[in-house]
Amino acid sequence: MKDESAASVSLYETVHRQGMWACVEDDAANRASFYESMDADTRLVMQAVVRRCPHVFDGIKSLVDVGGGRGTAAAAVVAAFPHIQRCTVMDLPHVVAEAPAGTAGLSFHGGDMFEHIPSADALMLKWILHDWDEDKCIKIMERCKEAIGGKEAGGKVIIIDTVLGSRADDEDDDKTCRETYVLDLHILSFVNGAEREEHEWRRIFLAAGFRDYKITHTRGIPSIIEVFP
Ligand SMILES: C[S@@+](CC[C@H](N)C(=O)[O-])C[C@H]1O[C@@H](n2cnc3c(N)ncnc32)[C@H](O)[C@@H]1O
Repeated sequence: MKDESAASVSLYETVHRQGMWACVEDDAANRASFYESMDADTRLVMQAVVRRCPHVFDGIKSLVDVGGGRGTAAAAVVAAFPHIQRCTVMDLPHVVAEAPAGTAGLSFHGGDMFEHIPSADALMLKWILHDWDEDKCIKIMERCKEAIGGKEAGGKVIIIDTVLGSRADDEDDDKTCRETYVLDLHILSFVNGAEREEHEWRRIFLAAGFRDYKITHTRGIPSIIEVFP
């Protein structure tokens, strides 16, 4: 973990004089290898999510995958849960411009999640919030809350991300724990983000105006956090 009040320039940016996201945006080869690696992770993680935690998607008719890249995670969700009638992948305009055309059941929306997120019953954020410091996470979660409406609308935010120090039930606990701390160092040095303990997640949710949350562990590093207004 890191001191989130520390300077916001990452080690990567100090060395390359340009942040990692700018390097991904500016260079087609960087972009291709970044999204290939994210897609490989997504195939593994989403298999666990849809098999072990299908209840998370119960009753959802519309979903936006925020920062959903080229749509690999959203495609896995709509294939597994045909009751989802409308599924939108939102990412930066240059990312969705390169998304594969004609993925069944998906539409793409180019935009900035710090400004506006399209409305839906539920939003999914997979490996998004660990890229950002606490203030930026609060801003993203405020936009999420606007997109799903108040408690009466019955919506939620589905976060797929790490919860540090909470895996006592995992058979593979030591290995998962070591991998998680390596991921923390990786995220810290590349984008100045952070892996978080439950109390740090709670602080973000409450500051963004959410009232409740529920954590479900998958086998492996990420957990699912359902956050309710
Ligand atoms: C670590 S990747 C995760 C991608 C995908 N969710 C996955 O798990 O494979 C973070 C994503 O956030 C997107 N992103 C970064 N800044 C964004 C912004 N301001 N608005 C929307 N998406 C953004 C990036 O383009 C990238 O696709």
